[in-house]
Amino acid sequence: MNRSGPSSPLTADEAAALLAFFVEAGVTEALCEAPVDRYMLDETAAPVVTAPAPDAVPAGEARRAPRADPRGAAPTFPAAPSAPPRVAAPTSLPLDDAGAAESARAIAQACTTLDALRAALEGFEGCPLRYTAKNLVFADGNPAARLMLVGEAPGRDEDLQGLPFVGRAGQLLDRMLAAIGLDRQSVYIVNTLPWRPPGNRTPTPAEHAVCMPFVERHIELVAPDMLLLLGGVSAKQLLGTETGITRIRGKWSSCRIGGRDIPALPTLHPAYLLRQPAQKRLAWRDLQALKARLDALPPR
Ligand code: URA
Repeated sequence: MNRSGPSSPLTADEAAALLAFFVEAGVTEALCEAPVDRYMLDETAAPVVTAPAPDAVPAGEARRAPRADPRGAAPTFPAAPSAPPRVAAPTSLPLDDAGAAESARAIAQACTTLDALRAALEGFEGCPLRYTAKNLVFADGNPAARLMLVGEAPGRDEDLQGLPFVGRAGQLLDRMLAAIGLDRQSVYIVNTLPWRPPGNRTPTPAEHAVCMPFVERHIELVAPDMLLLLGGVSAKQLLGTETGITRIRGKWSSCRIGGRDIPALPTLHPAYLLRQPAQKRLAWRDLQALKARLDALPPR
């Protein structure tokens, strides 16, 4: 088919090339027919946040409220939501990043159980990533586990299933855990972001700023004995370091969260190991150090 002018329909080859480009760029769904210039939306609108989950208490009351055991209250998150809880974007996105992060902290702090935290995230409208993601990726594994893993962000497979580390990197992670006698029932897994950045692009500092209060509260509620930080992004967010992962991996550090110092071991991300298999020997060393420290823990 020939094209007669700039406004003519695409040829089949052009349409196929365009679709291939979109797939390559990470586009998985068409949201609407016309582009929306979000910079032209009303900037005076207040940041969009929702009320805390029903069983959450206001931030100021959180410390006074009797603290239920959050682990007892939450099962092991076996399945992703059956129907994707896709939400329509609000007409006005939060433009004040600092305000959105502050609201996130207040909302997260008010959650006293993992179920409340999940519900709060499901209702949270302060992070634009939720509007391009198909599912919230909250956590997987056993919330009573003594070891908590923190990855970077969901990818395509995780977004589709609503569970962290289920794609190729996740399969490698499962094998790494198995090598030291662990599995998804003996660890608990989250990411620094609970929604997939479109096309797996690098998350922005503002996206991290608004999501980290939820991650920190998540860690506080699970109260693990130690953290394994998967990759440089996770290490940067939780240790506040700018030093690259290849320099800090394998060195124990500590995260102060909820008044507790939690030992944290940064290691190489499984996705990096898929690209650089020769580096697996370093990850193996880290895993052995982790296992030794886990085995030395006194019984709970
Ligand atoms: N990479 C991550 O950091 N997290 C996931 O859940 C999947 C891949």
